[in-house]
Amino acid sequence: MKLPQGPQTPAIVQMLQWIARPMPYMEECAKKYGDIFTLHLSFPILFVSHPQAIQQILTSDNKDFTAPSRANQLFAPLLGKNSVITLEGEPHFRQRQLITPPFHGERMKTYTEVITKITESVMGQWRIGQSVDARAAMQAITMRVIMQAVFGLHEGERAEELERLLAIMLEEGGSSPLRAALLYIPILQQDLGTWYPWGRFLRRRQRVNELIYAEIRERRAQADTSRTDILSLLMAAQDENGVGMTDEELRDELMTLLTAGHETTATALAWALYWIHKFPEVKEKLLAELDTVPDKSDLNTLLKLPYLNAVCNETLRIYPVAMLTFPRSVKNTLTLSGHELQPGTLVMGAIYLTHQREDLYPNPKQFRPERFLERQYSPYEFVPFGGGARRCVGTAFAQLEMKLVLATILSSLNLDLATKGDILPRRRGLVTGPDRVIELVVQGQRQVKTSLLEKVSS
Ligand code: HEM
Repeated sequence: MKLPQGPQTPAIVQMLQWIARPMPYMEECAKKYGDIFTLHLSFPILFVSHPQAIQQILTSDNKDFTAPSRANQLFAPLLGKNSVITLEGEPHFRQRQLITPPFHGERMKTYTEVITKITESVMGQWRIGQSVDARAAMQAITMRVIMQAVFGLHEGERAEELERLLAIMLEEGGSSPLRAALLYIPILQQDLGTWYPWGRFLRRRQRVNELIYAEIRERRAQADTSRTDILSLLMAAQDENGVGMTDEELRDELMTLLTAGHETTATALAWALYWIHKFPEVKEKLLAELDTVPDKSDLNTLLKLPYLNAVCNETLRIYPVAMLTFPRSVKNTLTLSGHELQPGTLVMGAIYLTHQREDLYPNPKQFRPERFLERQYSPYEFVPFGGGARRCVGTAFAQLEMKLVLATILSSLNLDLATKGDILPRRRGLVTGPDRVIELVVQGQRQVKTSLLEKVSS
């Protein structure tokens, strides 16, 4: 079978390049081989960046393509085999149906106050003149928000230990390309004791499991039908035969939501704070918009603010937290970008490359929110949350959280960017993040008559 062109270097060299410098490597390949190219990672896989081809993949998920679980097994050590991310076919569809409702529609309103309060409580610990690590601070917020959404609590010994362990596991996993190699190269996944990163990972995972199982046990013992958190909803859910989820299935889904649902949004928020404070004209425009909205308690208005929306979109465009969609596997022989592909071929939407296309985003390395005001991008040109059968379950939740956290912080405090020079993206485990600390200095309170919290909750 003839695959689209790609580097001719040995597979191990391609793998190491992909692990160490994924974004420059993708850009070099796109320049040399065009809109579709093949990399040999553990298996050959096609990187696709043309919006038409992305559209073809995402609109014919389940028809011409499947979203195979074998390619998502990288996530299995952390999330387990029953996670919506590691399942495929009918079981995947069923899990999606179970976990999607809490992140949509009316339910979203219930998170507004939680997000605002948690943001205010984290901000409340900052002092004038203090410097703040933007990503760590955003992570503290998003972790508590997702704990609250998933378990209905973010305080107490169990929640705090869980929060601390998850933060360490994700931090360690993303701290260096060497650590990322552990995920891609299964032979390195050995329990050699606590001196070895994988050994430490296994011990922490064991403790996290104990904490989650303890919570599930307690909830089963004292069923409370008035609770509306996601764990309660999942525990009450039954399939058509009246069978509910096992403890192991519950654990895997909770782990999925806790990890997928906080680091991604925290990184996006840290980038947003970086860009807003790097370019004073962006900050000025945004503040002017936030200040003139008559009623910020109206979520419909906040979510539709054009400039706030453009800033969030441009943040997710320029350095998307997820570089790629999950892999899809060709089901029936088909033609993609002029190449005939056989069943079983793996393809991925190269979100980062699509977002860097000069034909869609002139001067793509420039942060310019206005582009989203001047032009309407299709869901295949702007794809930060993927699409089709595996479209991000938390899209609306992440967008709400980004807007609310930014609005809360910016309307309350004057911050300055202390980190000098350009901050660039780098790999953080299976996603991306800033290559350095984004340091913000608290200059003082902003003089606003009513705090956003009062307006939102009034
Ligand atoms: C800025 C924040 C976020 C970004 C950029 C992001 C991005 C993505 C992307 C690109 C995918 C793969 C889509 C595909 O292959 O077509 C995905 C899947 C997923 N995301 Fe997110 N995500 C974010 C926040 C969240 C949040 C807040 C949650 C949950 C609360 C979440 C839960 C999930 C889940 C469960 C999947 C797997 C869906 C499946 O396999 O069917 N994400 N996300």
